[in-house]
Amino acid sequence: MRENIVFSDQAKELAAKARAIADKHVRPGAKKHDRAQEYNWEAARAVADAGLFRTFIPKAYGGLEAGILALAMVTEELAKADSGFGVAFAVNALGSFPILVGGTEAQKQRWLPQIARGEKFVAFCLSEKFAGSDAGGLAVTAEEDGDHYVICGEKKWTTNGGVADLYSVFCVTDPTSKSRRISAIVVEKGTPGFTVKKVEDKMGIRCVPVVETHFDHVRVPKSNLIGERPGVGFKHAMMTLDLARPGVAAQAVGAAQGALDLANLYAQRRHQFNVPISNHQMVQKMLADMAMKTESARWLVYAAAACADAKSGDVSKMAAMAKCLATDVAMEVATDAVQVFGGYGFMEDYPIAKYFRDAKILQIYEGTNQIQRMVIARHMIREAMDLEHLAAYIPTETQATYKDGAVKTAASSQAAGS
Ligand code: CAA
Repeated sequence: MRENIVFSDQAKELAAKARAIADKHVRPGAKKHDRAQEYNWEAARAVADAGLFRTFIPKAYGGLEAGILALAMVTEELAKADSGFGVAFAVNALGSFPILVGGTEAQKQRWLPQIARGEKFVAFCLSEKFAGSDAGGLAVTAEEDGDHYVICGEKKWTTNGGVADLYSVFCVTDPTSKSRRISAIVVEKGTPGFTVKKVEDKMGIRCVPVVETHFDHVRVPKSNLIGERPGVGFKHAMMTLDLARPGVAAQAVGAAQGALDLANLYAQRRHQFNVPISNHQMVQKMLADMAMKTESARWLVYAAAACADAKSGDVSKMAAMAKCLATDVAMEVATDAVQVFGGYGFMEDYPIAKYFRDAKILQIYEGTNQIQRMVIARHMIREAMDLEHLAAYIPTETQATYKDGAVKTAASSQAAGS
């Protein structure tokens, strides 16, 4: 097994626990929860009892400190059985990361142990009706009022909304500032004025609620502002997404593997022209391509997660690459899996249609794949500055120059503000 090649015993043990929970508590009820749009509390309790919410939390706050790579392996196992449950699990990390990356010691002591024990679930409130990809364009405000902030406005697409007890809410605290507009504030369920309104009727991941959260003059103590000072929320959101994107990418690998396993088995069982369809070369090509894509995505995800654990400088680019590649692969593999099932694949009686429906959102949330490609390209433009030693090999007539004769590159244009 590939897991025996490079991973810590702890990561392998956690992944094995997740696999057992997926087999016993997730896969058997996946169809029912999907149909009814019901949260799988039984599986969530099993995950808490097995200590899997401790995976990403440091030991100082009751966690296992097993890291982002172990978190990815656990998420992959859960998502293999039900992609929706994979995100229901992973979103707790997404909601917790702002506290982990930006919170004060007192805030970490206050919230993280409860999250580690699985007593409190967390959600991440960034997106709004008019601020999706442009995460800096938020409109929800938090105004100072004595020892409190008063939050007004509404958030869109809050995954785990209603189920979660804690919400990391990104708000505008200084509308006059360009670079220090936004702060993150923890809002607890039950705070007066805080309500879950529209529960979305979704194409996929139907077992996890995605909702609108409304803030009608919600008063929260200033001690709930994440960090020592306001204005660093956008940075914390970006750092959070760098840590969380390997998780959504792992969800995608799990989803792809789940679809591939079913397609593989079906291709052995289904006979046409008196032989299993897996005997037909065109089906073999599909299965082989699905396997190659899934396996290559898996290793990029593990590499990105390992970069996050190593606090490597290129985590942002690696996380974006893993998220983009793995989620595109999940969509392609799920589409081909439906094709292998033929007409039956289109029917909800068979489990593969759900993999197809669940896959689409992966390319959209936690940053669309267009945004991921933009993040990757921005890094590449900066990296090109380290490739100057190769410039002699590029004929000069193809290199644009400034009036002063300097070579014009994307990086120098950016620096010059053009
Ligand atoms: N780490 C730390 N700081 C970062 C950073 C990073 N990865 N990326 C950017 N920053 C900093 C920059 O250094 C800059 O700081 P200064 O102002 O001090 O110079 C500041 O943030 C602004 O950066 P940019 O100019 O790059 O910002 P931008 O407006 O061009 O946008 C973006 C950047 C990458 C497009 C960003 O808006 C983005 O990631 N958008 C996608 C939003 C997203 O992923 N939403 C997902 C919602 S969550 C969800 O979907 C979960 C779910 O339901 C399950």
